[in-house]
Amino acid sequence: MTLARWTAVDEYYGKLLMPPDAQLESALEKSNAAELPAINVAANQGKMLMLLAQMQKAERILEIGTLGGYSTIWLARALPAHGKLITLEYEQKHADVAGENIKNAGLSGKVEIRVGSASDTLPALVGEKCPPFDLIFIDADKPGYADYFKWAMKLARAGTVIIADNVVRDGEVVNPNSQDERVQGIRNFNEVVTAEKRFCATAIQTVGSKGYDGFIIGMVTE
Ligand code: SAH
Ligand code: DHB
Ligand code: MG
Repeated sequence: MTLARWTAVDEYYGKLLMPPDAQLESALEKSNAAELPAINVAANQGKMLMLLAQMQKAERILEIGTLGGYSTIWLARALPAHGKLITLEYEQKHADVAGENIKNAGLSGKVEIRVGSASDTLPALVGEKCPPFDLIFIDADKPGYADYFKWAMKLARAGTVIIADNVVRDGEVVNPNSQDERVQGIRNFNEVVTAEKRFCATAIQTVGSKGYDGFIIGMVTE
């Protein structure tokens, strides 16, 4: 099976299940125009994130890695009126594009973008002693994942759902000798996840218009 076939199936289900959406399409167009990399989640994965947040009745969501705010918009749409999403982004330019896109989607009141490395903004969040998050989406630089997961556990409660994107990388994740720092980042993350007895997780491989990848999803148990 080929990328062309996977893309055709994404398009088929996209038409059936995801009606044209001016806010999300505009977010991708503006991100493209600003030359952000097209590494946002696919529409079907974005909708899955929204549905998971709704199933979880999430009122507080944390995202690590904003880019142009595409996944942010999907997630923030799941929030009730008083809900809040905090999204962490290293690049000021990405945060600026995301801020515009989130505003165009009418979600500025619920979304706060914090600019800086998540390795700094996560400890700062812990220092604020804010209430725990109900759902945490890890999707920033892969070498940081292990560290971000440790901080995420401190910002969670029993029942918090944690999702980490891009944990398969064309299957390279099984190669212990990979020279790709992103693959090694995921492998380090997997060691930390495995050692964390308070987190019960599974890994799901995906194919589609974005190629062959996957995500880890799990729940904090205590
Ligand atoms: N979640 C987005 C895609 C995120 S791409 C979506 O699906 O729409 C990964 C993002 O992480 C990029 O914008 C990149 O600038 C950001 N990033 C990279 N290193 C980071 C760090 N140390 N802290 C926070 N964000 C970082
Ligand atoms: C990359 C990062 C992502 O978050 C993604 O979804 C795809 C690719 C990357 O860094 O290559
Ligand atoms: Mg990703």
